[in-house]
Amino acid sequence: MCGIVGYLGNGNAYDVLIKGLHRLEYRGYDSAGIAMVSPAGKLNVFKAKGKVENLETLCKDKDTNATIGIAHTRWATHGEPSDTNAHPHYSEDGELALVHNGTIENYKLLRDVLEEHGCTFHSETDTEVLVQLIEYIKVKNNCSLLDAVREALHQVVGAYAIAVIEKNNPDTIVAARQSSPLVIGIGEDDTFLASDATPFVEYTQNAVYLKDGEIAVIQRGEPLKIFDLDNCESKIDVKTLELTISQLEKGGYPSFMLKEIFEQPTTLRECIRGRVVDGGRKILLNGVLDNKEVFKNAKRIVIVACGTSWHASLIGKYLIQEMCHIPVEVEYASEFRYSCPVLTKDDIVIALSQSGETADTLAAVKIARDMGAFVFGISNAVGSSIPRETDSGAYIHVGPEIGVASTKAFTGQVMVLTILALAIAELRESMPQEKVAELGKHLLEIPELVEHVLKLDEEVKRLSLIYTYARNFLYLGRGYNYPVALEGALKLKEISYIHAEGYPAAEMKHGPIALIDAEMPSVIIAPQDHLYEKIVSNVQQVKARGGSIIAIVTEGDSVIRNIADHVLEIPEVPECLSPIITSIPLQLLSYYIAVNKGKNVDMPRNLAKSVTVE
Ligand code: AGP
Ligand code: GLU
Repeated sequence: MCGIVGYLGNGNAYDVLIKGLHRLEYRGYDSAGIAMVSPAGKLNVFKAKGKVENLETLCKDKDTNATIGIAHTRWATHGEPSDTNAHPHYSEDGELALVHNGTIENYKLLRDVLEEHGCTFHSETDTEVLVQLIEYIKVKNNCSLLDAVREALHQVVGAYAIAVIEKNNPDTIVAARQSSPLVIGIGEDDTFLASDATPFVEYTQNAVYLKDGEIAVIQRGEPLKIFDLDNCESKIDVKTLELTISQLEKGGYPSFMLKEIFEQPTTLRECIRGRVVDGGRKILLNGVLDNKEVFKNAKRIVIVACGTSWHASLIGKYLIQEMCHIPVEVEYASEFRYSCPVLTKDDIVIALSQSGETADTLAAVKIARDMGAFVFGISNAVGSSIPRETDSGAYIHVGPEIGVASTKAFTGQVMVLTILALAIAELRESMPQEKVAELGKHLLEIPELVEHVLKLDEEVKRLSLIYTYARNFLYLGRGYNYPVALEGALKLKEISYIHAEGYPAAEMKHGPIALIDAEMPSVIIAPQDHLYEKIVSNVQQVKARGGSIIAIVTEGDSVIRNIADHVLEIPEVPECLSPIITSIPLQLLSYYIAVNKGKNVDMPRNLAKSVTVE
């Protein structure tokens, strides 16, 4: 949550920072703010509640001339979204300005102590304590900003990525991280810092990912310096970005979400490339091939994830259990970390996260590693924390996902989990080689089938008009498509604010069936798989109670067509590969319902793309 940007160079800091904030707005949009040191030596701080555009309006007639600055887009954790609680926060004497992503757990204690020393606080945030503490130490010890930041961070408990500037020093930014992401972009004459690399991709491809417990000093005319909390200098490891600017634009679509839905044939091809080869007969997943013994001997797999990634994980469980006969448990990372988990060195823990930065998933990774389990990370964001903190892993390679509601990352995750299951099955010989090859062949056809399903677009758009004003929805599915039902319901909730419940179709009769009436539409995912007959009776049970039904069925289905109010046909596909296909019409349905309601699909209220706080 929260996006941080910083700039120091020869160009116009304001322009770089505002553009960067727009790129990071997916991380939070409760408020935005900017702090710059002007050539006249003034520390100009401007902040506005709401989206970055409000900040731009505020800044129109302000002095924004500067070549150094920091900026922030907020997802509030402490204190309501307001101008006052917006970052940057500044110190009592107006000497320092600071932006922060994360939460300071002992802020109350620190605040009480600082108040006793005469500090006055202006906001309700946990963040303000950081800037006041740094300033207090700086004055008390008469030390440099770097020394004061280091000393302050020794007293802080919690998660942070911070950037600080000083009024009297227009040539330095000090930044640090602990459990929240921060990456530094090194250009020829300019240095950038940001929560991810998107704000500076058009200026430089050279990036340094800060590690936990590191403090960076960006100094005009000097090479970047990084220290640990004991003041030992660290080696600078410059990575080359794989990001392109076109990946960050809407490319003619009205929203990122629609662009990302339609990108899926391409992103799935990227995801498969080099991994399913020789017409599907060979599965090559480096993360598995490099750790053959671990995957051969594993006794159990535990998958930890949150939100949509948790839904993809459930599909992973079905896949791995069917193909590899290894018991799989799927846990919400937020629960796992506090559930006294029992892990051994024979366990593999898979951490699944689009952003690679979700705080709960990252914490689960640390616990799993501490307990001796082998940890395999599956992420999208290259260079993010989870891939760096796991023993091995695989990227889903779907490119930056900007829409807050996950679409292409979900199908990419399911694809990688399918490839992973096939790779393990091949290694453990738990499935006949011909079966692996047959599924491999079908897997290669999936991007084309997705292209085909996307042709439902117009039909779903028309259908969405009938259901735009429904107040509740039930999503039902069985087996591989039960997690798809959960995901379909989550998509609708997130962007249209309609209450939707995802349920295993057979469980419906144990409770939710009581909700069914003419006002409660059900979306039932019912492709022709081995549970088809059973789901037909679930469809009948809903109809018998007067509920209207939208069913996702296999092309040519005539049985459900005769019962349901509307059907959306998908091509025939092996059961274990069906979730990628069945989820597409559900993405479109939620998208069009939200658009009909006039909602901002890319930035739904209260949400943020990357949940880097607990
Ligand atoms: C998906 O639409 C969500 N907005 C959300 O549930 C997301 O999947 C979750 O926060 C996990 O994120 P991650 O994959 O980046 O860890
Ligand atoms: N805790 C800070 C605030 O509430 C930062 C929040 C975040 O990073 O999400 O302003």
